[in-house]
Amino acid sequence: MWKPPQRIKFEPAPGRVPTRDEAARSMLFSPVRIGPWQAAQRTWVPAMVPWRATDDGFVTPEVIGWYRRFAQGRPGVIVIEATGIRDVPSGPLLRIGDDRFLPGLAELVRAVHEASGGATRLMIQLIDFLGIKRRPDPAKYYERFLRITDRHRGLLDATTPGARDWPEERIRAHLAAAPADEQQRVLDPREWEALQMGARERVTDLHLPHVRELPEVLPGLFARAAVRARQAGFDGVELHYAHAYTMASFLSATNDRDDGYGGVREARVRLPLEVYRAVRDAVDPGCAVGCRYLADECVEGGNHVADATWFGVEFARAGMDFLSLSRGGKFDDAKQPGVGQAAYPYTGPSGYECMPQYLSDERGPFGRNTEAVAQVRAAVRAAGLDTPIVSCGGIHSFEVAERMLATGQSDIIAAARQTLSDPDWFLKLSLGLGDQVRTCRYSNYCEGLDQKHKQVTCEQWDRVALDAPGVELSSDGRRRLVAPPWTPPTEVVSG
Ligand SMILES: Cc1cc2nc3c(=O)[nH]c(=O)nc-3n(C[C@H](O)[C@H](O)[C@H](O)COP(=O)(O)O)c2cc1C
Repeated sequence: MWKPPQRIKFEPAPGRVPTRDEAARSMLFSPVRIGPWQAAQRTWVPAMVPWRATDDGFVTPEVIGWYRRFAQGRPGVIVIEATGIRDVPSGPLLRIGDDRFLPGLAELVRAVHEASGGATRLMIQLIDFLGIKRRPDPAKYYERFLRITDRHRGLLDATTPGARDWPEERIRAHLAAAPADEQQRVLDPREWEALQMGARERVTDLHLPHVRELPEVLPGLFARAAVRARQAGFDGVELHYAHAYTMASFLSATNDRDDGYGGVREARVRLPLEVYRAVRDAVDPGCAVGCRYLADECVEGGNHVADATWFGVEFARAGMDFLSLSRGGKFDDAKQPGVGQAAYPYTGPSGYECMPQYLSDERGPFGRNTEAVAQVRAAVRAAGLDTPIVSCGGIHSFEVAERMLATGQSDIIAAARQTLSDPDWFLKLSLGLGDQVRTCRYSNYCEGLDQKHKQVTCEQWDRVALDAPGVELSSDGRRRLVAPPWTPPTEVVSG
């Protein structure tokens, strides 16, 4: 992952922990209404892909074990990882694009409700994404993938007279052997990108029929997925409008589609609102429907907080039950992948903004999104709407969380890596046992595993008591798949 060049080292600062009484009186542990229902506390585990589904997208016992472990910490809400809404092969990404996925998802819902004693509300994040290819071997790219056009012939001919009439094989061989700057001169920017990074579809590729038709097909796909989520027993759905994926790309200032779904903000928000309405119309009134989107895309030419506040008001006015704000995580500035690897949207500066780690710049890795989210919340409130806003990013301290709630920066506190590090941390805080919390170091060990699509674990617990009875291990047999168990002392539970 990219790191700010300053490389200033930051230590997490959990701050003072509350007594049990203080926690009971706190805002963090007070209920919050989310559309049709209430969450028992303002604690939230945002979507995190742990790479435990089968290769064809089914729930496995390891998926269930992962979420059962989070549920034991009894957060207000857990959002299940990004789950694909289409019935197409998507590698080991959880899927909800067909009824055959329902039994596994229903079992997952039951496991979470049981493990949390019914205290935790459960939602699922619904995602659509476009095609991306691995970075090709240059020889193969020129041999097989590049389509030789008159444009290439003309550009070659300009510097090598006669090249226009060369047989195709000679053009391919010439380009493959040419210096990089000559290749870049002759290839168009997308061909050059396909060679350097792997070909990647964009929502602006209107020449591709399946991309042009996204506004026709996506509302139905999201709506059917949401209905399945309800059939499986989820309390609600989170529409994934964040990071590098289809819906975020529609919202992005880089979306210049000319079919009424790109350009000005009103057009960019059109499909996200149509998807929302289709979902809302398809589900029963007991289903919470909200979205996750970006407070700032953190890329040149992308959306910034002014866009996010504008979209937030539109989403809230349309009736969304919650808005969960993330940050960055774009392909636009991703690092070049190795040959045979696909680009990953969390490897550039915008990826850093999404999951900032402990080596940082002067601003540090904690709360980098807080101010932008507060601005979105202020705009939504100024429009007379009380939609709850979920803030996320480097939060690992009761004091910070409580201050964010008390000062109106947020309504709900989400923590991804801190909860991965210690799934019981909310429970420990609420019981006055905050000094027992295992604090995240923000080393991004988990994110490194995520990037390689390896089973995600935490460096602080995956080597602990590996030989204890019943411990489930990763496929390489070297890491524990879930955090070690924690049992509150009996006098605390009964006291
Ligand atoms: C292993 C891992 C997987 C993630 N998967 C998702 C995901 O599926 N959907 C999503 O919106 N965010 C995902 N995220 C981002 C987190 O939800 C969160 O926004 C980010 O980690 C910043 O919050 P934190 O500082 O509390 O960790 C993931 C993060 C991690 C570490």
